[in-house]
Amino acid sequence: MDQREVSFVADFYKGKSIFLTGATGFLGKVLVEKILRSCPDVDSIFCLVRPKRGQDPKSRFEEYTKDSIFDRVKQEQPQNLSKVHLISGDMIQEGLGISAEDRKLLAEKVDVVFHSAATVKFVEPLAIALEMNTFGARKVVELCNELHHLKSFVHVSTCYSNSPIKDIDEKVYEPPMDPDSLKKFLEETTSFNLRSIIGKHPNTYTFTKAMAEHVVWTESGNFPLAIVRPSIITGALNEPFPGWVDNLAGITGLTTEIIRGTFRSCFCNESCKMDIIPVDIVANCLLVAAADISKTSGGRVVYNCSSGELNPLKWGRYRDYMLQAAKETPTKYMQFYPSCTYRTSKLVHLFMVFWLHYIPALFLDAYYKISGKRQIAMRIYNNARNAEKAGEYFSSREWNFKSDNLVALADEQSDADKQRFVMDCREIKWETYVKNYIKGIVMYVLKDDSFTHSATKKKLQRLYWVQIFFRSFVLMLAVAILL
Ligand SMILES: NC(=O)c1ccc[n+]([C@@H]2O[C@H](COP(=O)([O-])OP(=O)(O)OC[C@H]3O[C@@H](n4cnc5c(N)ncnc54)[C@H](OP(=O)(O)O)[C@@H]3O)[C@@H](O)[C@H]2O)c1
Repeated sequence: MDQREVSFVADFYKGKSIFLTGATGFLGKVLVEKILRSCPDVDSIFCLVRPKRGQDPKSRFEEYTKDSIFDRVKQEQPQNLSKVHLISGDMIQEGLGISAEDRKLLAEKVDVVFHSAATVKFVEPLAIALEMNTFGARKVVELCNELHHLKSFVHVSTCYSNSPIKDIDEKVYEPPMDPDSLKKFLEETTSFNLRSIIGKHPNTYTFTKAMAEHVVWTESGNFPLAIVRPSIITGALNEPFPGWVDNLAGITGLTTEIIRGTFRSCFCNESCKMDIIPVDIVANCLLVAAADISKTSGGRVVYNCSSGELNPLKWGRYRDYMLQAAKETPTKYMQFYPSCTYRTSKLVHLFMVFWLHYIPALFLDAYYKISGKRQIAMRIYNNARNAEKAGEYFSSREWNFKSDNLVALADEQSDADKQRFVMDCREIKWETYVKNYIKGIVMYVLKDDSFTHSATKKKLQRLYWVQIFFRSFVLMLAVAILL
């Protein structure tokens, strides 16, 4: 067979068993789906699932396999869904909360481990973030050290784990603190100053992920190890569907409110790099990295999985593409005409937030009350504002994530793998990507397919004239006051 047609990556996963944490998360779902479709000869995928909101892991797992993300698998490889198995557990429990029987099974069967579970909340209390992100990573390493046939271990970190540094190499840096001493300190203390502990880190997330990298790097046995650091993960470039996204976390949540016209002022420096990376590019990078390091004996590599150096997109350009797309695929859930101004003055931004966000929310809730609907406007604004506040640090500065290892990995792929496991962000056309992302938010997050309906288009038109009228009124009022 022509070497260009051989998929070394799919071949690597043939007959292999995988253990995955974070399978129920945004990235984890895309990873599982991709393995099932593009590595059809994989033996099994064992997913760690915890109990949540009163639901036990078994019933959560049953629901999980019915998720619409697997629709393509059900069509193209229906028998493959039976290769996904539940491992009940919890990252914060000792030994990951996995039963002795399951641990034995994993020790005998697992060839590849992906550790993706984390708490990604920027405002998570330090003790919880430490237990989950840092000590959770240590527990996964302990499990890896027990596996008889481990070929590769991939730890998912974040480009921002060293965010106090501007130029970030593909290497593990000294940790900001010793996690064991910190744990002891937190157990003995009732009150402390968070800033004095996390120092120049913006939040407990990046701080605990930085320590996790060091734990993984120094405590892993002699097996091949890759640390993959995605930047800001956004909707899919191509798979399972262009623009696919299923949650309102971070940028997706804010973008949703901007295209609904409710979020009109953002604290953001439009000339900074935004550094987003589509979720399927990250999943492919994890799969390719695991296959690649397995060729080494005990090799260790860090990949900055980011677009900033290779195909930069600035915040200002993103806003222009986003607003254009919001008008091409409008949602019936629009409240105002989509429009957003970035501001770098906190004072002006807060003033505008008051007038453009809080006052309209008050009016909307009053309207909802009169018409007997749920008063949700202020809650939505507050959620979006909290997400914006948590992200201000990242939208007002930029980093240089060196990506030499990532480029080498992408360039080394066979032609067949370049097609099947797309991971080269140099190829992305951002305008088309953002259009699909906005359409994905409307279709998969807002569950709205009315963008072709004339009623939604008419609503957009109406809101446009309302905006023109309102702006003219404010202008005339200002002129009248000044004269
Ligand atoms: N999203 C981004 O923009 C971004 C950027 C850079 C790096 N990353 C990294 O990418 C990875 C995946 O992030 P994501 O966006 O997929 O996050 P996510 O959607 O919040 O998923 C987090 C996953 O971790 C699991 N998890 C949390 N606590 C757990 C516990 N105590 N026991 C077992 N599982 C637990 C969650 O399970 P439940 O369903 O039970 O909650 C979920 O499956 C993380 O390591 C994150 O640091 C993400």
